[in-house]
Amino acid sequence: MHFLTVLGARPQFVKAAPLSAALRVHGTESIVHTGQHYDVGMSDVFFTELGIAPPNHHLGIGSGSQGAQTGAMLASLEQVMLAERPDVVVVLGDTNSTLAGALAAAKLHLPVAHIEAGLRSFNRRMPEEVNRVMTDHLSQWSFAPSPLARQQLADEGITEGVHVVGDIMLDVVMQQRGRARVESRMPAALDLPPRGYVLATIHRAENTDDRERLSAVLDSLGGLALPVVIPLHPRTRSRIDRFGLRLPSHLRVIDPMGYLDMLALIDGARCVITDSGGVQKEAYYVGVPCVTLRDETEWTETVDAGWNMLCQPTPDALASAVATMAMPRPVQPPLYGDGTAAEQIAVILAAA
Ligand code: UD1
Repeated sequence: MHFLTVLGARPQFVKAAPLSAALRVHGTESIVHTGQHYDVGMSDVFFTELGIAPPNHHLGIGSGSQGAQTGAMLASLEQVMLAERPDVVVVLGDTNSTLAGALAAAKLHLPVAHIEAGLRSFNRRMPEEVNRVMTDHLSQWSFAPSPLARQQLADEGITEGVHVVGDIMLDVVMQQRGRARVESRMPAALDLPPRGYVLATIHRAENTDDRERLSAVLDSLGGLALPVVIPLHPRTRSRIDRFGLRLPSHLRVIDPMGYLDMLALIDGARCVITDSGGVQKEAYYVGVPCVTLRDETEWTETVDAGWNMLCQPTPDALASAVATMAMPRPVQPPLYGDGTAAEQIAVILAAA
């Protein structure tokens, strides 16, 4: 069984670590990197740190508008797929690289396996929502992280090839948390006291691409009483510069981090504030409460469990949300499996 795994953006490199290891036990794998993320700190560091084999193909597509980026990937991926002739094309998550991989494969009649299938925000203005709906409808195998995700697929008529395997990011956290605690110097290297700071990440287009919204997000973070550390995504940095916004002096702005430092920073925080899907779950897995600066989340189970709260970006709302979440939280149910998603996926695909 020969797998072709399509990667392109930071969260996909993280998920590829356990997946690639499992696929290579049960078959052969080639990796294609679209080049969607290209800075060393957004890409190479994850391959090195997490021991992922270097990509067999690097398309070097880079940044662009939604259509230009996705279209360029589609054309190049088709050539790679024609050369590789894989038995299965594996795509992860909901980025433009995910959709391009699924569409290129489907048009060549190659079967597609989608990991993190069935998530919905029900907000079609998000590029990720378009990507995940389309990808789910192009896939032969849908690996869902939760029963709710399976139900959401069923609601759209997708019932064949659906497997609830849990969340592959839990695999990564379980495999790397001990290592992060030993090898990372975070949060001490930033002089941040354990449980005495907030970790914030902001990068979604809905928060960064509108000047008023981004300004409100920064003001809200800047108004918190606790120290706030924010590893700044290049998209957010470029929008702050373009809009001529000032970063509140209270914010500790740092460059994007590798996986181990990021996990250690989340692990040590009092509270996490984010608009990232991955960070919402990582916070849950290490038992740190989360405030999500969005109107909706795909990971609704974390909200229902009392560990995640949606919040509008106003200083009062954010301060009150952080205060609420700093109070003792309920017992954590296991929402997204047991950390064996990669192995389950590889076994199911190898038997196909
Ligand atoms: C993408 C995904 C998003 C995911 C995020 C993780 C889509 C539609 N969005 O968003 O779902 O949560 O990755 O980080 O696929 N840039 C750099 N260096 C890089 C990469 C990007 O400077 O290595 C800058 C460029 O200005 C670029 C901007 O970031 O235009 C946006 O990058 P892009 O890959 O289009 O989307 P993300 O915001 O990273």
